[in-house]
Amino acid sequence: SSSTPHRIALVPGDGIGREVVPAARRVLDAVCERRGLALDYAEYDWSCERYEREGAMMPDDALDRLAEHDAILLGAVGYPGVPDHVSLWGLLIPIRRRFQQYVNLRPIKVFEGLDSPLRGARAGEVDFVVVRENVEGEYSEIGGRIYQGTPQETAVQESVFTRAGVTRILDYAFGLAGRRRGRLTSATKSNGIVHTMPFWDELVRERAAAHPAVTWDQEHIDALAAKFVLRPERFDVVVGSNLFGDILSDLAAAIAGSIGIAPSANLNPEGRFPSMFEPVHGSAPDIAGRGIANPLGTIWSAAMMLDHLGHTEAAADITSAMASVLAEGTVRTPDLGGAATTGELAEHVITALRPLS
Ligand code: NAI
Ligand code: MG
Repeated sequence: SSSTPHRIALVPGDGIGREVVPAARRVLDAVCERRGLALDYAEYDWSCERYEREGAMMPDDALDRLAEHDAILLGAVGYPGVPDHVSLWGLLIPIRRRFQQYVNLRPIKVFEGLDSPLRGARAGEVDFVVVRENVEGEYSEIGGRIYQGTPQETAVQESVFTRAGVTRILDYAFGLAGRRRGRLTSATKSNGIVHTMPFWDELVRERAAAHPAVTWDQEHIDALAAKFVLRPERFDVVVGSNLFGDILSDLAAAIAGSIGIAPSANLNPEGRFPSMFEPVHGSAPDIAGRGIANPLGTIWSAAMMLDHLGHTEAAADITSAMASVLAEGTVRTPDLGGAATTGELAEHVITALRPLS
């Protein structure tokens, strides 16, 4: 291999995470071999299953160990009996925050050969990206409860919006729109949320002035949700706060047709810290252990990882192979109406890698 290997941390996690991550790794290995790239993997068993055995999702020095890597590929965490807040606050959120992965990126595409639940959402037309602020906003630990168990019981939860935090996510989103079709939509609710959202809107106008080549608009989150369903083809880049982006990206993943395909990236765009790539889906305990999980969400996430590491062509090799496998339609996992296994679908993606010219 020609280049210094990138150091990749693999965290398969729980349930089908342990099935889809090895499948994605096989695809990565095939692409890297063809392109002369080298990846150096370290695998960690951090998970809810580890939490049950040892009382913690990950060891005390986990974040220091991850810091030695260039990127993290994660499957999913979640196990029946372990509360979801344990996996979220014991693993995902510490990684996102310590490594300043302030961009959560979710591409949405309706592929040829896949049916969207929306009649009007056609392949080749619906192709947009939700950019979610990933470290501040509504998901904060600031607040509390008083007068517990009495009729006056009160809960307060603060949102945190900083000029630095909002500016950097907006600059990322405008920059991305500039590299795509040049259109940005900002999710807001400044009619109801009267401090943080007008601040967000002001900063959108300010950052728009710095990106004159991008056309932009803003929509209240409720109306925007309706437009995702009615006119999904009109969007290019959609930017929102942590909460709005979370909801919009799940809605968008549903429009694309299968949760098993949707990828995501948690990016530290400056590359000071490792970024993390993971499918949108969870550990799917209902099908775990049967070898029938759809690996495409993780395979597409692995492609986003290569793209982030600067290997644009290798990333495109993977996404075009995925697209041709879906269009061809002969090898599909049960969630897509077929009978193929996780491994068979991954092998088929490898077979579909187009010859190097
Ligand atoms: P889920 O995404 O695991 O499953 C929802 C449904 O989609 C299930 O019927 C499942 O079989 C199906 N599904 C999901 N991924 C699939 C794939 N690749 N191929 C075929 N079918 C697939 O969501 P659910 O059931 O709400 O959560 C299960 C566990 O996963 C929970 O513990 C939850 O906290 C955790 N979770 C973890 C996430 C993460 O690690 N980032 C994200 C979402 C949920
Ligand atoms: Mg979500």
